[in-house]
Amino acid sequence: MQADLRYFSGTGNSYKIISTCNDIFQQNGWTTTLASVTDDAELRGEADLIGFCFPVYAFGIPRICRKYLEALPHFKTRIKTFVLITAGDPDESGFCVKESRSILQRKGLNLTFSEVIHMPSNWTVAMDPPAKEASQLIIEHGVSKAVGVANDLIRGVSRHHRFNYPPRYNKFTFYKDYYLFKWLGVTYLWNSFRVDETCDSCTLCAQLCPTGSIVMEDDKPRWSHSCEQCMRCVNYCPKQAIYQKEGGSIKGRNSYHEPSFKPLKHMKQRT
Ligand SMILES: Cc1cc2nc3c(=O)[nH]c(=O)nc-3n(C[C@H](O)[C@H](O)[C@H](O)COP(=O)(O)O)c2cc1C
Repeated sequence: MQADLRYFSGTGNSYKIISTCNDIFQQNGWTTTLASVTDDAELRGEADLIGFCFPVYAFGIPRICRKYLEALPHFKTRIKTFVLITAGDPDESGFCVKESRSILQRKGLNLTFSEVIHMPSNWTVAMDPPAKEASQLIIEHGVSKAVGVANDLIRGVSRHHRFNYPPRYNKFTFYKDYYLFKWLGVTYLWNSFRVDETCDSCTLCAQLCPTGSIVMEDDKPRWSHSCEQCMRCVNYCPKQAIYQKEGGSIKGRNSYHEPSFKPLKHMKQRT
């Protein structure tokens, strides 16, 4: 059996979940391919199973994931497909599954399984991520859920995550936040990243950026419109020097990235 797995991950949660599934498939004798949507790894129509894992950004999938799915070819065979969403709050995954499903159906794929997996929030510019010990517990639960998901997929189980409005939202505030981020947030908020005086021009942010959206100008990072706001730069900055103008300094907050995630190793070489 062959599984082709694709993911996008700013701070390692989605990578942790999909790579856990990858390990389980391999332990069961499956052949797999595992690649980020930022790599040029082609998805051919020869797999028995195709899987995606994305984070939720303001109740939707990240723009880069939407674009990736939209750019897939039309598949001639209805290959079984699954979608896993990692969320800082499992009740707040919003339209992620729905969005993915509607694109995948148009591509001729057969979405038989979807699940939302709680992982620590990485949205440090907007809210304080959980402390280290609490994060570790959430990760452990998330990973054991991923093991269960992979075993279910191997057994051919079919099931879907059910959409609910997030409990602390009403319909109006839910749609407002969803569309504000989808249409305005991703289009303009990259322009509100700043560094404070503790930035020592180490260039780590520019090296780590999964979309190559950060360049150094006059020894300071500058973001460009391809930024997905994945928070990798914010959470890996050793000085906590990066913030968004609207939210103010993040100094004193918990930073978060999945501890075993080493993004430089997974990054494609850019010229
Ligand atoms: C811009 C942005 C928006 C987010 N919005 C939500 C949200 O609406 N609901 C939620 O549960 N988590 C939200 N999160 C948290 C992430 O979805 C969560 O931490 C995810 O696991 C990060 O995955 P990654 O480490 O693979 O990038 C948001 C994170 C970012 C950066």
